[in-house]
Amino acid sequence: MNILIAFYSRTGYTKELALLIAEELMARGHEVELERIEPLEDENMWPLLWRTQWYWGALALGILSNKYREYFINNYRIPEVEIRSLVHQDVSSFDRICIGCGKQTIVPCAIESYLRIVDGLKGKKVGAFATWAGPPLKHFEVEHLFRPIADRLERRGASLVSILGLSSRYHEYHGQMLGIFEFLSRVRFGKPISYFGVHSEYGRKNMKLFLDELIKGSTDVKESRGWRRSFQGTGIRGVASASLWTTLGPLRHEFKKRFLERYR
Ligand SMILES: Cc1cc2nc3c(=O)[nH]c(=O)nc-3n(C[C@H](O)[C@H](O)[C@H](O)COP(=O)(O)O)c2cc1C
Repeated sequence: MNILIAFYSRTGYTKELALLIAEELMARGHEVELERIEPLEDENMWPLLWRTQWYWGALALGILSNKYREYFINNYRIPEVEIRSLVHQDVSSFDRICIGCGKQTIVPCAIESYLRIVDGLKGKKVGAFATWAGPPLKHFEVEHLFRPIADRLERRGASLVSILGLSSRYHEYHGQMLGIFEFLSRVRFGKPISYFGVHSEYGRKNMKLFLDELIKGSTDVKESRGWRRSFQGTGIRGVASASLWTTLGPLRHEFKKRFLERYR
């Protein structure tokens, strides 16, 4: 197959993942073209953060209310930036398209611009991949990034057939953010964020699964059960109960080891 990998990578982590994806696709015998999406003007990290100030409150409210979160994800607007002219302005000759970015609270503005101006998306099967600092939190990371991308692709007549989100373990706004993510990762998944890293076993396995689904192209991510479940999730209650269950995990393990197995 002839596959295009278009990516926006501000600090280089998603570029690294894009290259790994390209390598794997070529090893499978596919032809790959790369397109780096770049804003025309340099983006300084603080104005970049300021651009998404309107979303912070909404993100917090979204944890408390499923209805609000659903509304917010369906309706949030992403400012656009001017991007450099594309090498592959028309993507109609590609069999599959991969679009990648680093998560910037929401979908990066450069990706919003790309999805608006690129030609030939109609009927295309697309895979979306991302790096972010933290673990794959369902509401905060997966939904906030991939749902708007899926909606935009649908509006352009394309469908999202696979998704991949891995941790770069890097956050421009420094250690404190990583500390919070590390804490959330251990509480929510019982694992450090390195477990979800690009070069981890989890990363390699999920990259291969992502590509299997991309090539097969038979699932519309928006129609999949996992996707619907995530939309109808139980919000804070689900997160809290899952956390409790994970937190209780080591206790259950100790109890089994010390009492149940000893008296068997
Ligand atoms: C404005 C901004 C917002 C970010 N928001 C998140 C976030 O919501 N969750 C997260 O895990 N990482 C977040 N990050 C960290 C990046 O997603 C992470 O460093 C990513 O790997 C960068 O990819 P890149 O080097 O390809 O640009 C944010 C970074 C920036 C600059």
